[in-house]
Amino acid sequence: QTLNWNPTMVEKQGFKHYMLKEIYEQPGVFRTGLASYISETNQIQLGLPPDFINSIERVEILACGTSWHASLVGKYLLEQIAGVPTSVQYASEYRYSPPPSLKNTLVIGVTQSGETADTLAALELAKSRGDRCLGITNRTESSIGRIADAVIDTQAGIEIGVAATKTFVAQLLMFYLLAIEFGITKGTLSAERTQELIEGLRQLPAYMERILESQERYIEDLSRQFTHTKDFIFLGRGINFPIALEGALKLKEISYIHAEGYPAGEMKHGPIALLDEDVPVVAIATPGAVYEKVLSNSQEAKARDAKLIGVAPLDDPAAHEVFDHILPIPVVEEIFSPILTVIPLQLLSYHVAAHRGLDVDQPRNLAKSVTVE
Ligand code: G6P
Repeated sequence: QTLNWNPTMVEKQGFKHYMLKEIYEQPGVFRTGLASYISETNQIQLGLPPDFINSIERVEILACGTSWHASLVGKYLLEQIAGVPTSVQYASEYRYSPPPSLKNTLVIGVTQSGETADTLAALELAKSRGDRCLGITNRTESSIGRIADAVIDTQAGIEIGVAATKTFVAQLLMFYLLAIEFGITKGTLSAERTQELIEGLRQLPAYMERILESQERYIEDLSRQFTHTKDFIFLGRGINFPIALEGALKLKEISYIHAEGYPAGEMKHGPIALLDEDVPVVAIATPGAVYEKVLSNSQEAKARDAKLIGVAPLDDPAAHEVFDHILPIPVVEEIFSPILTVIPLQLLSYHVAAHRGLDVDQPRNLAKSVTVE
């Protein structure tokens, strides 16, 4: 028997598409980030001087696309962990209508490629207004390095699939670390809670692996049902609302299916009118402050005959009662859940697109980095 290798297959290490390979690389990327930025004695080392952190009173984050979704999670973390008021703007909006300039603002530009024209222009504007600028990027050699005062390297390795996956998870990790570092320096985090958060982060890669190992086949099968679906709704609340947005974006980008992400509590103010048996609803329901609320929002969708998929714990009877299908998530403290809940959504969009026979790595009309306005 001869083995049929070609160079591309070798690069893809047996995966059919780069996107799938990159989804599988996520636990490793997370481990690399932890090893690079947290010392063995659990000190966070992002290289930001304490005086600098102490002088910051608010944060403004500028980004586009998937990086914008990571930034929304970042806002949640900076506010909840470090108590730093944070706003997130689309870079393309900020550059033409920036909010009033306030002193002691740190502006963070988040861009995987470091070359997105809108994000660079927005950051340049912030710099010209006297704000201090930090970049979070996967390409430190890119243009953002020349604009920002300092850059944090997400160290995810080159991402080839146009739809961002592993760089998203790496950006999220940087926000956890940034929020913890701000919390320690500003005194909003106790030493005990700091250790708890760091230990919590260290446990995530094993859980990510468990999701990948246990769910891929199931999601591949389930996705077949949606090959001809025209619309999807994604619901989440709190820290998982941005993950609902990201799930919807991934599906749009690579499968060309119309999908909308909504905060679950807003469904009754419009999107519920769209629901019927042809519009599946994917709800992120992880134990925590809004768990029961999301379950009851999902119940409302079910009453409109929508097919319900829950990203939810496996062994909760309440979730089983509501959802037609469960994409099970290990139970972790809610604040860590986005790192896990995004994975089944990436796999779902990947397999739906693959069943439709689409060019997953090079979707039509999209580019890996958009260097024009
Ligand atoms: C493009 C890509 C998106 C990406 C966005 C922002 O539109 O297709 O997947 O999220 O740019 O990219 P950046 O490199 O700035 O993170």
